[in-house]
Amino acid sequence: MSKSINDLVDQLRQESNLPDAALLELLAAPGDCQYLHDSANSVRQEIYGSAVYLRGLIEFTNYCHNDCYYCGLRRSNRQAQRYRLSSEDILACCATGHRLGYRTFVLQGGEDGYFSDERLVPLVAKIKELYPECAVTLSVGERSKDSYRKLREAGADRYLLRHETANRSHYEKLHPQEMSWENRRRCLFELKELGYQVGAGLMVGSPFQEDRHLLEDLRFMQELKPDMIGIGPYLRQADTPFAGYPNGSMSKTLRLLSIVRLMFPYILLPATTALGTLNPRGRELGLRAGANVLMPNLSPLSVRRYYNIYDNKICTGEEAAECLTCLSARIKHAGFTVSKGRGDVKRTH
Ligand code: 5AD
Ligand code: FES
Repeated sequence: MSKSINDLVDQLRQESNLPDAALLELLAAPGDCQYLHDSANSVRQEIYGSAVYLRGLIEFTNYCHNDCYYCGLRRSNRQAQRYRLSSEDILACCATGHRLGYRTFVLQGGEDGYFSDERLVPLVAKIKELYPECAVTLSVGERSKDSYRKLREAGADRYLLRHETANRSHYEKLHPQEMSWENRRRCLFELKELGYQVGAGLMVGSPFQEDRHLLEDLRFMQELKPDMIGIGPYLRQADTPFAGYPNGSMSKTLRLLSIVRLMFPYILLPATTALGTLNPRGRELGLRAGANVLMPNLSPLSVRRYYNIYDNKICTGEEAAECLTCLSARIKHAGFTVSKGRGDVKRTH
């Protein structure tokens, strides 16, 4: 007889790994899997204690030259109201964030040619000059190795670039032909080589996704050894070609978060805004399933509602300070403590 699900969880916890068939069984387990979540939660507790790290997120441009079929920022979306923040605006967001206590800033945007190295490098350098004790994280998509190097030399510490899916043919179903699975992987390995703390990740329940793809995602991440893994449910966006596909499932997303915590005990794992959008208690459930990072929005209120990657995004009507108060209360209520420090990964490799 095959092992029970709880035995598989125990084995995964002990070995940080399982054979393919066992991982597939865990991925496919129906409904909630409390034992899995509790195990992930306790591994997170062993390594990071009850601290939840906060990152100040600045969504500084929603222009994007890519055309991903799932994303509301895609260039073919004529409904999107486009904006980009000036360097002064971005620095003002950092100042607000710093005053609120954040020691990590995440600069996230579409792939916007306006933010060439000539513009981005001095901006990163300026933020590091003003706030040398803070970590700067970039999330601005695929660029050349030379560009990644210049940004790293300017002081960028971390880089978030979800791999989206490790399976080539699935990747090709989510993206137009001009985007390449190889290039995505090249970027991630180069970022690591350059000494960034790297974040990979994926959407759960993206169109055409099967459990065997998620298994490949886990295997790919074992090879990449990222420091952060961003996982949220796929959510529909009405103005994209995928508008007809259903949202990803809550229980599946939570299950993957827990599996990831057990396979990568040291990982920095956000409870994403997408999870909070799918379910009003989604982020808290994410924390209890093993996540340990939250990324409250620091973008100016005037532009918040235009960063419409998916529909019904939460936190678009709150000032930065309100978001912080709300999230801090939620974190404490869920039994965790707020940490606004740099929150580096507790591992070197
Ligand atoms: N639903 C959920 N997540 C999405 N992303 C893009 N579009 C969607 C969507 N419709 C995620 C992608 C991307 C990150 C910035 O947001 O994984 O890497
Ligand atoms: Fe912007 Fe995909 S639409 S990266």
